[in-house]
Amino acid sequence: MSWLLRAAAEPTLSYYQSQGGYEALKKALRMSPQEVVEEVKRSGLRGRGGAGFPTGMKWAFAKADPKEPRYLVANADEGEPGTFKDRFLMERTPHLLLEGMVIAAWALAARQGFIYLRGEYTAPYRALQRALQEARQAGFLGRDILGSGLDFDILVHRGAGAYICGEETALLESLEGRRGQPRIKPPFPVNQGLWGQPTVVNNVETLANVPLILQMGAEAWSRIGSRDCPGPKLYSVSGQVLRPGLYELPMGSTLRELIYGHAGGLRPGRALKAVIPGGISSPALTPQQLDVPMDFPSLQRAGSMLGSGAVMVLDDTVCMVGACLVAMEFFERQSCGKCTPCREGTGWLRAVLQRLEEGRGSADDLELLSDVARNIAGKSFCPLGDGAAVMLLRALERFGEEFQKHTRGRCPLKDRVAS
Ligand SMILES: Cc1cc2nc3c(=O)[nH]c(=O)nc-3n(C[C@H](O)[C@H](O)[C@H](O)COP(=O)(O)O)c2cc1C
Repeated sequence: MSWLLRAAAEPTLSYYQSQGGYEALKKALRMSPQEVVEEVKRSGLRGRGGAGFPTGMKWAFAKADPKEPRYLVANADEGEPGTFKDRFLMERTPHLLLEGMVIAAWALAARQGFIYLRGEYTAPYRALQRALQEARQAGFLGRDILGSGLDFDILVHRGAGAYICGEETALLESLEGRRGQPRIKPPFPVNQGLWGQPTVVNNVETLANVPLILQMGAEAWSRIGSRDCPGPKLYSVSGQVLRPGLYELPMGSTLRELIYGHAGGLRPGRALKAVIPGGISSPALTPQQLDVPMDFPSLQRAGSMLGSGAVMVLDDTVCMVGACLVAMEFFERQSCGKCTPCREGTGWLRAVLQRLEEGRGSADDLELLSDVARNIAGKSFCPLGDGAAVMLLRALERFGEEFQKHTRGRCPLKDRVAS
């Protein structure tokens, strides 16, 4: 199945156009900007950056603000561990993102767009620079695009390797040249974004869906995927499966289908212990939850999140306390330091997890972990702290027995795996 990846064989403009590329833009430019917004609303597209906010509604909010100019930002920071979908899109089919951005610019009457690109993404940077040049030469970017009267261009801004700069308000701070730390919301970026102007921040995969919606029509596009969460979805699959990689499936496909069908299942003789369904901030699911549809509402009901759609598969050689420790080391390092509960709490959680993993912990430490985590959740400006706390609280609930074993000595799996 191929929708977003239909033209991923080659990144060139000529190949993209041979696969129908930029036809959606031509169609959009024959529609009024308001009609384009309505079409995106009708499709039911929800943002693929993690929170699942309805895209058409976000665009309508920005349009309703009369302040000019308006800005469009593609969030290409992709810092969530285990996520590599945006990288693949930008490297292999960069014009899909550019076409989505020009259509969004038409809808929003934006004259300047930015791609905030993860600093380490060298190959996508080169692919984007080349695609931008081709698009400008072909008249898809620049002044009076295809005679429509729209003037729009895109600047690629490379980040400097901070996870927090993927959070939309920290991203805007960074783009303005300041330290990347989240702003308090409201006001939301749609009203006060870049330099105080109305700004739409959308994930790369979200924007890449826009040409498909225009080309197929909202109704046909929304027949892909689940009823309350339509469209195609890119799932990055990593961990202990035979065929890790990027899979494009209808939104709402089950983990069972993804892991055992597409990713080839586990190594022979191994049993499944846990699946992290949406990047490191999403609580791990148990093997009994494999039939949950991989979409925003279903995973929320299952006590987790779709997040970025990064599926990490852990087999029975993995220690859950050790896995939580690795995650917490990441959160501690990446906490931007603005909010005390997140800055101090992630360090405490890491230290307690470390002593449990090394066999120096006690039964009281489990209570301490829950207590500290509960004091982080809901008490910070942005969801980084929430992600760290809730991921751990759910692991304590779902894999409590393994945590208990660690209070009686060194990790029981260490010797087993080594032998
Ligand atoms: C700590 C943190 C990191 C984030 N990183 C990313 C990221 O790398 N890419 C992304 O698109 N969204 C990321 N987000 C979500 C953005 O804040 C925002 O919701 C998203 O870019 C909106 O786009 P969408 O509506 O198309 O999903 C992150 C959020 C948080 C709290």
